[in-house]
Formats: sequence, structure tokens, C-alpha cells
Amino acid sequence: MSTPKRYTITAALPYTNGPIHIGHLAGVYVPADIYARYQKMRGEDVLFVCGSDEHGVPITLKAKKEGVSPQDVVDKYDGIIRKSFQDFGIEFDNYSRTSGKTHHETASAFFKKLYEEGKFIEEVTQQLYDEEAKQFLADRFVVGTCPKCGFEESYGDQCEKCGTSHNATDLINPKSAVTGNVPTLKETRHWFLPLDQYEPWLKEWILEEHKKDWKSNVYGQCKSWIDDGLRPRAVTRDLDWGIPVPVEGGDGKVLYVWFDAPIGYISASKEWAERENKDWEPYWKNDDTKLVHFIGKDNIVFHCIIFPSMLKAHGDYILPDNVPANEFLNLEGNKLSTSRNWAVWLHEYLEDFPGKEDVLRYVLTANAPETKDNDFTWKDFQQRNNSELVGIFGNFINRVAVLTHKYYDGEVPASAELREIDKKTIEELKAYPAVIASSIEKYRFREAQAEMMNLARLGNKYLADEEPWKTIKTDEERTKTVMYVALQIAAALATLSKPFLPFTAAKLSKMLNITSGKDDNNSEWSAIASAEALLEPGHKIGKTELLFSKVEDKEIQTQLDKLEASKKVNASAEEEVIPQKELIEFDDFTKLDLRVGTILEAKKMPKAKKLMVLTVDTGIDKRTIVSGIAEHFTAEEIVGKKVSVVANLKPIKLRGTKSEGMILMTENADGNLVFVNPDEEAVNSGKIIS
Ligand code: MF3
Ligand code: ZN
Repeated sequence: MSTPKRYTITAALPYTNGPIHIGHLAGVYVPADIYARYQKMRGEDVLFVCGSDEHGVPITLKAKKEGVSPQDVVDKYDGIIRKSFQDFGIEFDNYSRTSGKTHHETASAFFKKLYEEGKFIEEVTQQLYDEEAKQFLADRFVVGTCPKCGFEESYGDQCEKCGTSHNATDLINPKSAVTGNVPTLKETRHWFLPLDQYEPWLKEWILEEHKKDWKSNVYGQCKSWIDDGLRPRAVTRDLDWGIPVPVEGGDGKVLYVWFDAPIGYISASKEWAERENKDWEPYWKNDDTKLVHFIGKDNIVFHCIIFPSMLKAHGDYILPDNVPANEFLNLEGNKLSTSRNWAVWLHEYLEDFPGKEDVLRYVLTANAPETKDNDFTWKDFQQRNNSELVGIFGNFINRVAVLTHKYYDGEVPASAELREIDKKTIEELKAYPAVIASSIEKYRFREAQAEMMNLARLGNKYLADEEPWKTIKTDEERTKTVMYVALQIAAALATLSKPFLPFTAAKLSKMLNITSGKDDNNSEWSAIASAEALLEPGHKIGKTELLFSKVEDKEIQTQLDKLEASKKVNASAEEEVIPQKELIEFDDFTKLDLRVGTILEAKKMPKAKKLMVLTVDTGIDKRTIVSGIAEHFTAEEIVGKKVSVVANLKPIKLRGTKSEGMILMTENADGNLVFVNPDEEAVNSGKIIS
């Protein structure tokens, strides 16, 4: 589009059924925040909105699981999520909630207008129904095999594996997520948005007009859906949690969450306007507004096809100029998962790494899954922190600040005549705002951040080459010049790092005692290139602070241990439960004589890998029991242990040693043997069944 007059920037509304983790931050919120901050720094008129997505099945399911109301669930997680955003400096102009009044009214009115203008198809169809739970099964209430890719755990509305969006009735072998039952079919009336009617228009708008400027992953997904042919899509549901369908026949029904949630962007804008005494409409209705949706790849169909069709049907609204969706972030090689607790939760991260908000932002951007899925590893986190943030950025700033205080009492020196290298360095410095900007404008945030770091590298190299700590002894004028130039780079970094590292930028500005200036276009960004000097000679800088600190090996180990623990829990949960054996008579059971005993001695049986010869005090006698536990325990570990003994097992000879009984064992999550221990208070010879 030609130069926009204003920007409406949205970030996907997170489902309010759990806290948020690094995947959310990396995929959506950090890039959106970088973009919004950067546009604001350029002096653009920007509205950046988000909010909690509080309807939909995931919330109802969570409430069921926890035995609380859906409202309780969203109240709890809205608070947690809101705080995480604040903590990590995601600076929305408004963070709203879809359970709020403004949103209910806005979404309701939107639906009503489409209804009254005949934009929906109304149809009675057969939908999946759970007879036991007495409810219809749409969306995440039902799982089954994806008709497109064969993934067996696809949801009713979308397959998480291949991203395909479908209707619940398309699933093969559907099963209720509520009871596990096979659903039946039951008739119900719903309203559908006839996406097929929008197909020609979508073809033109996406496949022609946005062929060049949309990311190829986004364009590719859209093309594949459109090529497959679009079908009418139900926009109402038989549920009780959501926005009531505001038309005749809508009793007991609510709007489909994916119908109401994106309208949340508009409601959030309205709320903002009200609070700030502004007009929201230009941000949504004027053609000279650039609307950009930041989302993850599983949201593409909703933001590129369904929501635009809704906006088109409505008629009053502009369409997104771009939808820079990211791919997924993995963690240590595995898919992030809330249910498997395979995640780095933001609130937990801050407990372990207080003050390191920017480090996480930095690492997530450096590894952003912009063009393909990417991996977050703790080793890489440590490495980037220690060698890039501490080693390059922090080191450069620290040297500049310390030397300025040491040589000039904190005052920026006047430079003598600039040499070729100084001129070249300043020239390079002035090119950076445009270089970084060009990457940001193309939504290439990792490239943009890498360029910002290159400026710190330039500073480091300049100091290393010009060695002011040496020239101070021989050439004071030269030293002043070098320090003057280095200080200019430090000041540029205080501004150019702001979109990426807002906390660091604030610290650095304080350290240099500056507020960034603006040029005639009200831009602090381009002022970096045009200003005569960013720090005037005579300006006094503030106290030196360390911007970053090292992450030690043991801190990383703690994180890896945490993940290892999750793995174990998952493994034991997944272990197949061996089916129960056939029933026995009570008499069979009473034949067993189980006793408490104590291991008195333990010896490995020679030449037998697994066997250990135990002497056990059963209270009845002291006897020998040969047990297959040698690979799991040492003798020292088990002597003195209270154990459960099958006392009346017929003796057998094992490798020539008579064994009179058995010790009861089970397995832990790792598959290692552990004892079925009687309580310490139990006495030898005590019958276990009494
Ligand atoms: N809650 C959805 C998710 O987490 C995103 C909703 S985005 C909106 O995947 F556009 F609907 F708001
Ligand atoms: Zn699939």
C-alpha cells in the first residue's frame, strides 16, 4: 500500500485456559511488540491491541477438569497472562477481554448485521452428539482422525498436525473429548458463513494482490485451502459458554469462538478509544490505515480467510495488509505442549532468571521460527547470553562507560580531527537505522536484531582497533576522538535496541543520561542518522551499570533437570497399562501368605548378572531368598530394608541355591525396580493381609 497514515497492529488473543510460554512469546508477541515499538519510534500513529480469548471449548474443558466455572478459569488466567505480558515489556495500547461488555455488544451487533442483511445460510444439519454428556460435540469437544493427513488426534474444527480446518462431521472415527464415547448424530439448526461465495474474491485478493508481499508460508497455506475449495462454515454452536446468538431461534446457542474472537480486536480498539478520548473508527475503516495481524501458523486460515470474509460481508471495515504468521517453536527438540508440561512458562522463567526479560526476548528473536519451525535450547540460551549480550553488547557499553568516567570524569570529550577510520565508522553507524528498518518492514525480525547487534560489534571492533587505553599514554587528542566516536555508537544503540531490548535500552539511556531526540518527522529512529551528534561534547553521562550478566552452567542444568522431570512424568503416564488378569476366587487369594520381613544380608550371586542372594528375617525364620534385583541395587543399599515377602512359595533352586520365597517389587517411572515397602512401623512376621 502507499504510505499509510496510521497502523492498527493486532496480536492473536491468547486462549485464557492456561499461562503462556516461550512459544507464544516467540511466535506472536515479541515480533508484534518489536514492530509496534518501531513504528511508534518512527513517529507513526499506532494502535496495538490484544486481549484474552475467553470463550471456546478449551476453556469449558479446563473448567470441567478443575471443577470450577468457566468464568473462574478466565479470571485466573487473564490475570496471569496479563502480568506476563507486562513483565516482558509487551506494550499493548489496550489488552482487553472477550468476556467484557464492549466485546459482547460489538460481536453481537456484527452478527446481527450480517444476519439481517442475509449474509448467512441457515440450515438444519446432523451434528455429532454425546448422549451421555447430553451435548453437541463441536471443535475441541471431539477428536478423531484428520480426513486430510490421517493424524489420529485431530480436533473437530482443526487438525493441529496439518493445520487443515474442517467440520466436526468430517472426522473419521470421532470420539467425544468429554466422555470418550462414540458420538451419535442429532439434528440442530445453525448459521453458516458461505465461504464458497467469497472464493472468487479471496482468489483475487490473496492469490493475486498479495502474492508478493505475504510470507510464503502464509501464502502457501491460503493457496492450498482455496485450491481445495471452500465450504460454508458454521458460525454458531450449541453451547452455553460464549456470546448468545442474538437472533430469533438463537436460544441455547452461542457464537462460534472463532467468529467472536477476531472481532475482539475491534472491541479492544473501541475500549482504547473510549479511555483515551480518541476515535477508533479510522483505525478500522479508513483505507489509509495499515492493518497487520501477528499470529502463529495455526491461526492462518482464520485470519486470512474466515475473518476477512466476515469483514468483507460486513462491508464497513478494511482488510489486513499483511498477516506475518510464524511457524512453531520447539523446545529441546520436542513440540511445546501445555498438557505434557513441555514448556518454559514465562512466570516460572522470571522466578529463575529475575531481571533477564530482555535475554529471553533476545534469544527468542534470534531463533524466531520465521520461515520454519525452530528449536529453543537452554545451551543456546546460555551461549547467546554469555557471548553475545554479555560478550559483545554489554562489553562494549561497559568499556565506553568505564573509560569515559576514568579519563574524563564522565564528560563526553570533544573530538579532534576525524581520521578516515572514524569517518567510516560514523558513516556506518548512520546507515544502521535504515538497514534495521528495512528488515523490520519486511517482518524479518531476526535479521533486524542481528543488524542491531552488528552495530555493537562495530563498536567493539572500533575500540579494539583504536585502543584508547593505549593511546591515553601517548596521544590524548586521539583518545578523545576515539572515545567521542564510541560514545556516539553507544547512544545509537540506546535507541536502536529499544524495540528488541526495551529494558536494556531504558537502562542504557539512563546510563548515558539521554532521552532520544526526534527529527522533523517526529521520528527518533531516523534522527539517529540525521543528528549532528547524538552525544554533545560536555554532556555528562550517568553511573555505570552492568547491562547483562553471565548465565552459569548450573543454572542451565536446573532448567534441563526440570524438563527431564516432565519427561519422566509423561513417560509413566503414557506407559501402557497392562490389562487386569482374570478373576480369582477369594479362596485362591487367602492361600497367599504375605509377610513383613527385613533384609539382613545381601550378596551378589557369582556369575549371575541379575541375581542376589538375600538373607531375610521373616519373623518366622531367617531364610534365603534369591531375587533378581542385582542390576538395580547394591548390597549396601538394601541391607536393613523392610520388605514384603511371599512366604509360602514352594522353595526352588536357582543356580544351586535354594530360594524360599519372593520379595515384592514394582517399577518406577523410569522402568527401574523399586521395593513394595511396608511401613517402617510394620513388624517382621506381620501378615500383610490381615
Ligand atoms: N485464541 C486463539 C489461539 O490461541 C487465537 C485467537 S486470535 C483471534 O489460537 F483473532 F481470534 F482473536
Ligand atoms: Zn491433518
